Amino acid sequence: MTLANDIRARLARLDRDSALDAPEQWRARAEALEWIESAWPQLAAGAVAPALRSRLECADGRLHRRLRAVVRAGQGQVLFERWRQERAATARAIEGEGYDALDELVAGVLQLDDPGTELLPLAPEMVFYQPTPARHVLDMLARSALGPRDVLVDLGSGLGHVPMLAALCTGARAVGVEWQPAYVACARRAARALGLDGVHFVAADARDADLSEGTLFFLYTPFGGNLLRGVLDALHAQAIRRPIRLCTFGPCSRIVAGETWLRADGPLAPDRAVVFDAVVP
Ligand SMILES: C[S@@+](CC[C@H](N)C(=O)[O-])C[C@H]1O[C@@H](n2cnc3c(N)ncnc32)[C@H](O)[C@@H]1O
Repeated sequence: MTLANDIRARLARLDRDSALDAPEQWRARAEALEWIESAWPQLAAGAVAPALRSRLECADGRLHRRLRAVVRAGQGQVLFERWRQERAATARAIEGEGYDALDELVAGVLQLDDPGTELLPLAPEMVFYQPTPARHVLDMLARSALGPRDVLVDLGSGLGHVPMLAALCTGARAVGVEWQPAYVACARRAARALGLDGVHFVAADARDADLSEGTLFFLYTPFGGNLLRGVLDALHAQAIRRPIRLCTFGPCSRIVAGETWLRADGPLAPDRAVVFDAVVP
C-alpha cells in the first residue's frame, strides 16, 4: 500500500468509527486529532478530514462542558477517583516530561486563558513558564495524600492549573504565588469561572510571599541560585514552627534533595515528582 493509500484508509476507518464520539474515548480522540494534524498537508484536499476533526472536537467540547459542570457542583473529587482507578487498572507510565491527552483534557476543563504578550521580563534566576504535565500533578496529589485540612502553595504558579487541580481533586485550599501579573489575572478568571472558592492567586515574588498558611509547598523549578536558596531558607524557618511538606518537579528536585532538613519519600527520579517531609528536631 502506498503512503497516500495508507493515509486514506486510516482516515476512512476513523470516519466510520462512531465509538470515537463516546465521552470516555477522549484519549483515542486526542490520538486521532494529533494524527490528523500531522497528516493535514496530505488530508486537507478532501472534505472528510475537516469534518472528522470538527466532529471529534465537538465530542471533546461536550465532555469538557459536562466535566466543568461536575467541578462547579463541587464533585471534582469524583474525577480524581476515576483517574486513580484508571491508573490502578492500566500500566500507563507517569515518568517522562512530555505532555499527553490528559493535558488536553485538563486544558479543556480548566479553560485557561491565553495571557497575551504583556509579560514582565524575568529577573535573573527566574525560570519561564512551563506547566507541569497533568499526570505528574495528579501523581503528586495522590502520593502526598493532600486533603481538605491542607493548604497547597504553588511557588511560581504560572496559569494556575496546579492549585486548581489540587483544590478540585482533594478539597484542599490552594494558593498560587506568581511573579507575572498577567498569569495571575488568567488564573483568577479560570478559578472564578469554575467556582473554585478555595483557590487564591497572589501576584508576588515568592521571596516576599506569606508562607505561614501552607502545609504542602510545590515547586516546579520556578527559580534557581540565590533566589531558590532564599526561599528554601524561608521554608526551613516555617518547618521549625510546624510540620510542612515540599513537593518538587524538574531539575530543582536534586538541589532540594540536598537540604538536610528534608527527607524524600523515595529514591530521586529525574522525571517524577518528589514529596519531601520536613524533619526538624
Ligand atoms: C516552570 S514554571 C512552573 C509553573 C507551575 N508551577 C506549574 O507547575 O505548572 C515557573 C513559574 O514560576 C514563575 N516565577 C519565576 N520566578 C518567580 C518568583 N521569584 N516568584 C514567583 N513566581 C516566579 C514563572 O513566571 C513561571 O510561571
